[in-house]
Amino acid sequence: MKKTTPTALVTSGPTYEPIDPVRFLGNRSSGKQGHAIAAALRDAGFAVTLMSGPTALADVTGVKMVHVTTAKEMLEACKAVLPVDVAVFAAAVADWRPKRVQSHKIKKNGSAPPVIELVENPDILKTVATHKTLRPRLVIGFAAETKEVIANANAKREAKGCDWIIANDVSGGQGFDADTNSVTLITDRHTEIWKEQTKQAIAEKLVKKIIGVVGVE
Ligand code: PMT
Repeated sequence: MKKTTPTALVTSGPTYEPIDPVRFLGNRSSGKQGHAIAAALRDAGFAVTLMSGPTALADVTGVKMVHVTTAKEMLEACKAVLPVDVAVFAAAVADWRPKRVQSHKIKKNGSAPPVIELVENPDILKTVATHKTLRPRLVIGFAAETKEVIANANAKREAKGCDWIIANDVSGGQGFDADTNSVTLITDRHTEIWKEQTKQAIAEKLVKKIIGVVGVE
């Protein structure tokens, strides 16, 4: 019988939301965790599309790389690869973007600092997790939290409609840009603490769990 290759979508890294031609709103995500998940899924036999925001990392070989800058670009790129079997949202997507992007560099001119009006970005994870016809079989989010980490992450899991969420306590600045992390996997049935380990080990552990649901022939 012909084997079907399972498919996966992974988001990784930050998004940059432009203010003017030289400035943007961004965050400290390096893409290390998302890229490691894409590599682990590839090694497990998935056909992987990796949506990467701007990072300093090399492309992951053997996966389809899609480079984007803003949240809106990431959303359109994600929608374009559906359907997939599994989607993992490790990117740190900017929740807001400047309402207007100035076409020229904003000058200091010795006057008061500019007031930058923000508007909400689309929620990529929620859009995919609540898709009426193309929802992946398994949708996994990440949650970066600084207080009441488990409760807030689980509330996000429910609000965004994903199956599992990986809670990150980033209160001391940990999680972002490091090679190791400690996280908590939350499903609708249970919670598992994964003590500090490399992001590669976290990725491999997550992929083992994913295979338990999706299966690889
Ligand atoms: O990239 P590294 O340096 O390795 O760091 C890894 C990490 C800390 C960035 C990563 O493990 C992590 O926690 N990623 C999620 C960070 C985040 O933005 O969390 P959040 O709680 O704001 O978002 C919750 C979920 O919704 C995330 O899956 C996020 O990808 C998704 N989201 C958020 C906003 C938005 N507009 N669209 C989204 O899809």
